[in-house]
Amino acid sequence: MAVIADRCPQIQVTVVDLNAARIAAWNDPDLSVLPVYEPGLDAVVGRARGRNLFFSTDVAGAIASADMVFISVNTPTKTRGVGAGQASDLRWIEVCTRQVAEAAQGHTIVVEKSTLPVRTAETVQAILAVAPAGKTFSVLSNPEFLAEGTAISDLESPDRVLIGGNDLESVDALAAIYGHWVPADRILRTNLWSSELSKLTANAFLAQRISSINSIAAVCEATGADVREVGKAIGTDSRIGSRFLKSGPGFGGSCFQKDILNLVYLCGHYGLKEVANYWQQVVELNSWQQQRIARLVVQKLFNTVSGKRIALLGFAFKADTNDTRESPAIRIAKELLEEGAQLAIHDPKVGSDQISQDLGQPPGSGEGQWLVALDPLEACRGADAVLILTEWASFRDLDWAVLAAVMRRPAWLFDARAIADAAAARAAGLQVWRVGEG
Ligand code: UGA
Repeated sequence: MAVIADRCPQIQVTVVDLNAARIAAWNDPDLSVLPVYEPGLDAVVGRARGRNLFFSTDVAGAIASADMVFISVNTPTKTRGVGAGQASDLRWIEVCTRQVAEAAQGHTIVVEKSTLPVRTAETVQAILAVAPAGKTFSVLSNPEFLAEGTAISDLESPDRVLIGGNDLESVDALAAIYGHWVPADRILRTNLWSSELSKLTANAFLAQRISSINSIAAVCEATGADVREVGKAIGTDSRIGSRFLKSGPGFGGSCFQKDILNLVYLCGHYGLKEVANYWQQVVELNSWQQQRIARLVVQKLFNTVSGKRIALLGFAFKADTNDTRESPAIRIAKELLEEGAQLAIHDPKVGSDQISQDLGQPPGSGEGQWLVALDPLEACRGADAVLILTEWASFRDLDWAVLAAVMRRPAWLFDARAIADAAAARAAGLQVWRVGEG
């Protein structure tokens, strides 16, 4: 919404949320404390806020005065009831749609921005259909393809914008907004269901590439090949392409797992058992990769990490974000804590409160406990191993001579992102494991 406001100064954009503390943070004069860390976002908000971008808790008022409402709420995986563990929980979509039905005035275009199961627009339409007389609605699907960490550039020059809808006038109205900065041939129009399904499919394909390359990484480690050489060799085939072939600790983030599980549920619902199993395997391989790394660490440290200090560098699910949702670091850290390790965790953007919440236990300094280290050197002090889990730029040029000097020998570097200078680490006396290197 901030980018739309930035690119279309004549359109008034109001972002509303019930959470007053969050809205206050978005309105904070200090742009360095915005609730989301995203490179370039502060500048965009700084330019548009107060001009044509507003943050408010007046949900009903903003809906009443809007020509177009974007529904951008959470759709987490259900934890109970039918479809638990797979289907999306649509309760916020429903609450929100009911609010739109109640507060809207005249004709309103309702845009699904949240990622939703196929045919959710039908539910949205059904709720809007019983709104008090005198109001009309048109429902569009406009899934978001930005990735965290590169959100602003992804939005400013998207590969494509997808608009699904059956009412051509409304589709044109939304296309005209993007048309302020996106070339016309990058604005794709489809029917509602194709748009909803394309979003799930794009994420399923991307995640599938990661599970595919991670499966090959394990083969490389077993046979003496190097997954980066294999990735480069296959990526130069223009039919395959070079992106999303980086082996690592598995994919995290709020989307890939949730969306695939959603697809799996959908396939099951339509009796497509083989298709459901096919996609389910992408998620299973991802969990296996994380478990494999945790177990490998234990095995290399003489089959016990009980009471041993392990430095964990990186907790966010990828670099350039403070988001830890479904981060591979969570599962790996939990396994190591279960084995009795003492974890010293350092992430440039993730703090103690978030880690506490993710690991389900407060910080502490004993066996099976974790604490935060302010920098990599402090994390490594007295550690038997250092494990790199997020590809933060600052971890690429760590001074291994300095870090190795404060570790307990024999010491290990486990580089799950293969970003550190392995030769320098070896020269400093560390034993080194890199993902996908035999
Ligand atoms: C993903 C998609 O890339 C976006 O297009 C989509 O809009 C978004 O989900 C969404 O549905 O909202 P995001 O989860 O923010 O974006 O981040 P990605 O860059 O896709 O990374 C996801 C995970 O895959 C990270 O843990 C990352 O480290 C991992 N990854 C990515 C790899 O392990 N290897 C790669 O080669 C690429």
